[in-house]
Amino acid sequence: MKVAFSLNGETISVEAAPTRTLLDWLREDQGLCGTKEGCNEGDCGACTVMVTDADGARALNACILFMPQLDGKSVRTVEGLSGPSGELHPVQQAMVDHHGSQCGFCTPGFVMSMATAHRNGRRDHDDQLAGNLCRCTGYAPIIRAAKAAVEQPVPVWVKDKADVTADAPDVTLSDFANWYADNPDATLVAGATDVGLWVTKQLRDLDQVGFVGRCPELKQITRTDDAIHFGAGVTMTDVLETLRDDYPSYAEMIRRYGSVQVRNAATIGGNIANGSPIGDNPPALIALGATLHLQLRDVERQIPIEEFFIAYGKQDRAAGELVTGVTIPLGQDGLRCYKLSKRFDQDISAACGAFNITIVDGTVIAARIAFGGMAGTPARAKSVEAALIGQPWTADTIEAAAAQFGADYTPMSDMRASADYRLAAAANMLRRYFAETTGTATNVLEVQP
Ligand SMILES: Cc1cc2nc3c(=O)[nH]c(=O)nc-3n(C[C@H](O)[C@H](O)[C@H](O)COP(=O)(O)OP(=O)(O)OC[C@H]3O[C@@H](n4cnc5c(N)ncnc54)[C@H](O)[C@@H]3O)c2cc1C
Ligand code: FES
Ligand code: FES
Repeated sequence: MKVAFSLNGETISVEAAPTRTLLDWLREDQGLCGTKEGCNEGDCGACTVMVTDADGARALNACILFMPQLDGKSVRTVEGLSGPSGELHPVQQAMVDHHGSQCGFCTPGFVMSMATAHRNGRRDHDDQLAGNLCRCTGYAPIIRAAKAAVEQPVPVWVKDKADVTADAPDVTLSDFANWYADNPDATLVAGATDVGLWVTKQLRDLDQVGFVGRCPELKQITRTDDAIHFGAGVTMTDVLETLRDDYPSYAEMIRRYGSVQVRNAATIGGNIANGSPIGDNPPALIALGATLHLQLRDVERQIPIEEFFIAYGKQDRAAGELVTGVTIPLGQDGLRCYKLSKRFDQDISAACGAFNITIVDGTVIAARIAFGGMAGTPARAKSVEAALIGQPWTADTIEAAAAQFGADYTPMSDMRASADYRLAAAANMLRRYFAETTGTATNVLEVQP
């Protein structure tokens, strides 16, 4: 596949296999070994690069980024971070000044994340660097360095623009849908945060690949008075920013979805289409009563999103049918999302609960509760909902409803959590919802007396 992009300010055009990763290409074909390989699965950030397109500059993990995903964009690696005369970027200088590096293996990834955050004026350093692991320096000096660089101007040489002409033209949704229907065995690649690992970890050869990112219609966000529509190719970063005011609890849950680098790549469509029982979006979308949009050739259909998940590994999607987007109703003020994972940041959920409960005059008049991690699919807690609806919003009602989780779910025990723990945690999330809506502050990060 022909791919054109800018690398450290120089426009290049290369022939690359569709699943050749940027990391391998940089290190093996270009001899640019500053970008490190740690985990090769998106977890450590050692391979972070800055990628700029019309939407701005974003940090991405090069290890699970396929070359065609770069077409028409600008890539900056650690080799292009210092100035033309060798002057250090402000974040590099700050890392030196604050002793932010020891063995140095993680450092190129850190400085690329820091430089991207610096360019974007971000000050939420803990979040911006949650996807970069360091095993010897410790994070305090690195965060101090990030803070110290904030007021320094962005060097002109890192202000890449997305003015590269892509080698492959954009495709219309209609053409993309027809192509996929003609090639139903092809693998669709959206953010590649799943598919990338099939290549780097399972060493799978993917014969035919279709890139969702080539279709601008799938990357659109549209808002009406009562709903938001996300195209399937919208990244989790953009979902987070869009929902921040409408559904702060949903947005807060997404803040703990992977890392900045993962959220910059992963799409809401990929997180639904993969049918994972532990994807973080589906429980919230089910609790909100979202609508899923699919398309086979020119035939579009819409279903309540919960009907998409039929059984483990089985979704309501025909061969060659695209997930095109999801519509989220607005104004569901009762929504709260609780993600439980072994590690607070950058971890897959052990259980993820979404509660959308409407209470009028002290009585529950509606309840939609959905969980990930409790069954073979994301699924509703219909017995719990039934035990709530029509009841007074009291601790007794909560206890009676909490006892119903066992009727709704038979979770498995795995390395993330035991079945008993998952059931106990689900009941505790309902108690937490009650506490939060009746004026008791909750904090899952600090033990309170
Ligand atoms: C380090 C790391 C951390 C992660 N953390 C989380 C987390 O906290 N929470 C979480 O939920 N997930 C997490 N994930 C999993 C992953 O990010 C998600 O599953 C992701 O949403 C997949 O989206 P994608 O766009 O990257 O999909 P891809 O990898 O590109 O595709 C995933 C699947 O969906 C199919 N597909 C993609 N788009 C479409 C479409 N439009 N129509 C039909 N099929 C399509 C693909 O063919 C493939 O089968 C993590 C992954 C990594 C690597
Ligand atoms: S090498 Fe670990 S995230 Fe890429
Ligand atoms: S400095 Fe050694 S891993 Fe960070």
